[in-house]
Amino acid sequence: MKALVLAGGKGTRLRPLTHTSAKQLVPVANKPVLYYGLEAIRDAGITSVGIIVGDTGPEVRRAVGDGSRFGLEVTYIPQEAPLGLAHCVLIAQDFLADDPFVMYLGDNFLIGGIADQVSAFQAGGYDAQILLTRVAEPQFYGVAELGPAGEIIALEEKPAVPRSDLAIVGVYLFSPVIHQAVRAIEPSDRGELEITDAIQWLIRTGHSVQSHMVSGYWRDTGRLQDMLECNRIVLESVDRDIKGAVDTLSEITGRVVIAPGAVVENSILRGPIVIGADTKISSAYVGPFTSIGEGCVVQNAEIEYSIVLDGSSVDGVSRIAHSLIGRNVEVSRASGPPYTHELMVGDHSRIQVRS
Ligand code: DAU
Repeated sequence: MKALVLAGGKGTRLRPLTHTSAKQLVPVANKPVLYYGLEAIRDAGITSVGIIVGDTGPEVRRAVGDGSRFGLEVTYIPQEAPLGLAHCVLIAQDFLADDPFVMYLGDNFLIGGIADQVSAFQAGGYDAQILLTRVAEPQFYGVAELGPAGEIIALEEKPAVPRSDLAIVGVYLFSPVIHQAVRAIEPSDRGELEITDAIQWLIRTGHSVQSHMVSGYWRDTGRLQDMLECNRIVLESVDRDIKGAVDTLSEITGRVVIAPGAVVENSILRGPIVIGADTKISSAYVGPFTSIGEGCVVQNAEIEYSIVLDGSSVDGVSRIAHSLIGRNVEVSRASGPPYTHELMVGDHSRIQVRS
C-alpha cells in the first residue's frame, strides 16, 4: 500500500497567504496542516509516499525533506499546472505502479487518522473507497448521492444544486484499476480532470466503489473560518507545557504551551494557546484558541481566537480576534493626528476595522 499526497494546486481562497506560501503549510497549532496528514499516513502503516508539488514545490520539499523525520520515504512528483485531482493520479502512475494506494489531499484535516479506513478497504477488496460527511454547504465540495442500500448512485463536483448534503472528504482509497479510469475521462467544464468523474467511471463500468461516513472531525482548510476552527480543535487537546521564561507579573491560566526561548512578561495568557520559540509577549492579553508562531512580538496588545505566523508583530493594538496574520506582518498603532488607518496590504487581503 502506498500514499499519494496532493500538495500542489492554487490555494485561491487563502490569498494573500498563498501568494507566497503553500496552503498545505499554513500551521494549525503551530504545525503545518500537511504534517497532520503525513502522520496519519504513517500511523496507518504506510511508508512509501509520493507528494504532488506545483509552484510551491521548493517550500514543500524544504518542509518535508526526504520524509525520514516522519518515518516515511517520500518521492516528489512535480505537476506542471493544477490540472485536477485525477491528473495527479495520471502523472503518479510510475510511482504508484500496481499498488493500491490512499490519495490524501494535503489541505484536508482529519482527526482520528485513517488506519480504520485503510483496514476496511483492504478487508473489503474494493476497487475504490471514498469517505463522506454531512456538511452545511455541499455546493463547495464533491457531493455523493446514495441509494436506499447506501450504494453510491452519483458523484458530482461542486454542483450548483446539490442532490444531498454528503460531501466527499479528501481521503480516497484506490486499487490500480483507477489508472484506467483517469485515462478514460475528459477534462470538466473548469478544465480539470476530476477524480469524481474517474470514480463515476468506475461505478458505470461495474467496479466496486464503497463509501464510509467519517465519524470524527473533518475540515478542508481552504477557508479562514475552517483554519481557525481546526486550530481550536487541536488546541482543545494540548497539554500545558511551559518551557519559555515567564515573569512573576504574568498570569497564565489553563493549557498553555510556551516553546523554549519565548519570553512572557507582564501579560495575561488564557489557554488553550501555543506560543512558538523566540516569541516575546509583553504587557499583552492572549486569549483562548490562539496560536502564535516563532519569532513574533505581541506587546501592548490583545488577541484571541487567532493564528499568527512566524516573524510577525502586533504592537499597541487591541483587540484582535478571529484573525489569520501571515508571516513577517506588522500590525501597529498609529499615533495621530490625523486619526486615520494606515494600511499597506497585499492583494486579496481582507481587513475589518471597527472604529
Ligand atoms: O476537501 C474535499 C474536496 O476536495 C472534495 O469534496 C472535492 O470533491 C475535491 O475536488 C476537492 O475539492 P477542492 O476544491 O477543495 O480541491 P482543491 O483544488 O483545493 O485541491 C485539493 C488539494 O489537492 C490541495 O491540497 C491542492 C491539491 N491539488 C489540486 C489540484 C486541482 C494538486 O496538487 N493538484 C491539482 O491539480
